[in-house]
Amino acid sequence: MDTSYNILLIGSGGREHAIAWKLNQSEYLGNLYTAPGNPGTDEFGINVNLDPSDFEQVARFAAEQNIDVVVIGPEAPLVNGLTNYLESKNIAVFGPRKSAAMLEGSKEFAKEFMVKYNIPTADYAVFSSDEFDDALTFIQTKEKYPIVLKADGLAGGKGVFICNSEAEVVKRLEELKTSASLSKAADRLLVEEFMEGEEASVFVISDGHTSHIIHNAQDHKRIGEGDTGLNTGGMGAYSPAPVLTEDILEQVKKQIIEPTITGMQLEESDYQGILYVGLMITDQGPKVVEYNCRFGDPECQVILPSLENDLLDLIVAATEQRLDEVKIQLDNKHRCCVVLVSGGYPGSYEKEILITGVDSIKEDAIVFHAGTKLMNGDLVTNGGRVLNVVASGKTLKEAIDTAYKNVEKIHFDNCYYRKDIGHKGLDRI
Ligand code: AMP
Ligand code: GLY
Repeated sequence: MDTSYNILLIGSGGREHAIAWKLNQSEYLGNLYTAPGNPGTDEFGINVNLDPSDFEQVARFAAEQNIDVVVIGPEAPLVNGLTNYLESKNIAVFGPRKSAAMLEGSKEFAKEFMVKYNIPTADYAVFSSDEFDDALTFIQTKEKYPIVLKADGLAGGKGVFICNSEAEVVKRLEELKTSASLSKAADRLLVEEFMEGEEASVFVISDGHTSHIIHNAQDHKRIGEGDTGLNTGGMGAYSPAPVLTEDILEQVKKQIIEPTITGMQLEESDYQGILYVGLMITDQGPKVVEYNCRFGDPECQVILPSLENDLLDLIVAATEQRLDEVKIQLDNKHRCCVVLVSGGYPGSYEKEILITGVDSIKEDAIVFHAGTKLMNGDLVTNGGRVLNVVASGKTLKEAIDTAYKNVEKIHFDNCYYRKDIGHKGLDRI
């Protein structure tokens, strides 16, 4: 690379702040714009008030500002085809096209794909929205609990139910049918075998042909300590995940990642961008829980600080099908991210509460913003997941302790965070 690159980054969460932070370290970065961004991304470039669902507006801005690559953070614009639209206007994009993002956009598509290419995953059956009675009969006949119900489409993490009894299945089926927010995603319903094991995620960068594992992590999806209570976008993460031993990672590469990338080529949907493989490590080996077509949030916040490569260099190599020329380099430290949320999340919560202490965190931790905004010069809360505190260590224990030491410096009324991020990793050491 012998030039500078102007980047438009789409998104506004902790993941996008981490991407902006990492891009800012690149000697090749020209102008960085984030749309819509947050007060954290604003430090490294210019936040612009674009609506990622208005493709024409995004394309016009990219043309006007001589953007070299548009980097798409969240799933919705990818699944809706923003990449296709921008490419049709000759704008380079990091992130899969619509047909490849279907790996996240339709769980039925992902399952059919995995069966076709012999990629290990849970057994399943699919029912349309007028066949929910058949779904119930199917589950009654099996009589094996827990059983997993999943809405086919994007549901912001709210479309998956693990049911322990027939009564719960009946209740959840009714909810999927009648809920205004879920009924569209549940136009098709998947009934899945429950997989026993420990979850972990692997993050892959692919140019459509060559792919590399960047790193792995473990998320904490539930709101409560000990992995209890409602599902959230993610309450914290740590990396690497000791459950992913070298041997298991080799199986993941051979049995899951390589067949996924070549399978997508055979489907004529070359996968370019970040592939997030959600895994269950079962007694029979690693199996896919889900694919996502982007970095995880908050996993991105622990992965990118560990990456020694220039992220912009990797992104440009991916858009130019040159990933065979690069090698991933990690710093081999452990990292822990604790997410501070507004009390009440994932249900309803108040906004615009004053946040203090962020500026006191300097050397031994990084704060990535998510749901924050500036109001009359003050930093205030503006969402469920508010801030991410990330620390590193030679050991996982050190990373966890340093993260929590720094979390204590931040205050806002009704702040909540889990005190046990990384506990499964510590249990394995
Ligand atoms: P998904 O959106 O498909 O990742 O599902 C959300 C969460 O539900 C996963 O992170 C798992 O914790 C759980 N889950 C989904 N499918 C299964 C399954 N077949 N067996 C066990 N747990 C599952
Ligand atoms: N942390 C889970 C996700 O990004 O989907």
